[in-house]
Amino acid sequence: MSDPIILGFETSCDETAVAVTRGFEVLSNVLASQVDEHARFGGVVPEVAALAHVEAIRSLTHTAMRSAGVHSMDLGAIAATQGPGLAGALMVGFSYGKALAWALDIPFIGIDHMEGHLFAPRLEHDGYAPPAVVLLASGGHSQIIHMEDWGSYRTVGSTIDDAAGEAFDKLARFLGLGFPGGPAIDAESDGGDPHAVEFPRALADRPFDFSFSGLKTSVVTYVRKHHQAGTLPTMPDIAASVQEAIVDALVTKTMNAAEDTGVPAVAGGGGVLANRRLRTRLAEECAARGLELFLPSPALCTDNGAMIGAAAAFRLARGETTGPGAEIDSSQRLGA
Ligand code: KG4
Ligand code: ZN
Repeated sequence: MSDPIILGFETSCDETAVAVTRGFEVLSNVLASQVDEHARFGGVVPEVAALAHVEAIRSLTHTAMRSAGVHSMDLGAIAATQGPGLAGALMVGFSYGKALAWALDIPFIGIDHMEGHLFAPRLEHDGYAPPAVVLLASGGHSQIIHMEDWGSYRTVGSTIDDAAGEAFDKLARFLGLGFPGGPAIDAESDGGDPHAVEFPRALADRPFDFSFSGLKTSVVTYVRKHHQAGTLPTMPDIAASVQEAIVDALVTKTMNAAEDTGVPAVAGGGGVLANRRLRTRLAEECAARGLELFLPSPALCTDNGAMIGAAAAFRLARGETTGPGAEIDSSQRLGA
């Protein structure tokens, strides 16, 4: 019997994302980005995000179904992000998905957003399997997970302050590079020297944890001082150096975790994994250690509905569904 077809919703932040998947096969994967609506505020505004999800979700669902060539009676289950994320935003996709599943009398599955990111590499790599160390780095979270088995997650390390994506976003704003900051710094770094400025790497004494708030302070101090003195390097040099400091911390700690756990494979998920320098550095370091590396393509690193469908396929196969009384949990945490 073939896997059930799943309609997956992801509305935890600023992308309304809907996908139709079967097992780990993507039949359609569409999204309505709110980036332009938030850009003028320099960051995501929760109320604006929730309203934009409400406005987009119905027609986007039709688009996803039409482009997958499926009808509602073909669906075997519906899944939606339950948390973590912005409460108002989460509530839109979760309530919509739950109501639709109830109306169609099919199972509903609430999915942890970070578990979605963790399953994303599986959509493109059949060989991705535990045991593995998984680097999850997004706008709200940065953690290193030791996945001993599917569904069995141990957090090896995490950030003690800002998430990696948050660091990119805050620093891009300070440097006047725009929003969202990750892609802006990634693009600005082209042609820049990553070693033009050696910004400090925090928490050298803690092999698996991250800290990015000190980096922000040191970049601000550096730029102000050198701007006044007229000795500021070019913006590509600064951007590349900032990017290198974040990437270096992520790669170093992930490799430490891989070594410590003795896993044969490393994987990644979350928007920050779209970063070109991070992808190159992970590929180099994994190759040097004989580790397999499984990264989603950039569009599946950032928030999408297909990753929610993939995690739901796993949960559904284990008979785990979510009852009609379930609520969102904006602060739930994977692998605690
Ligand atoms: O996973 P995601 O799409 O949404 C959350 O779950 O937060 O991650 C968004 C984060 C943002 O902070 C964004 O700046 C960052 O991922 N990001 C990047 C890149 N593309 C997105 N960071 C660095 N380089 C990129 N190319
Ligand atoms: Zn995400």
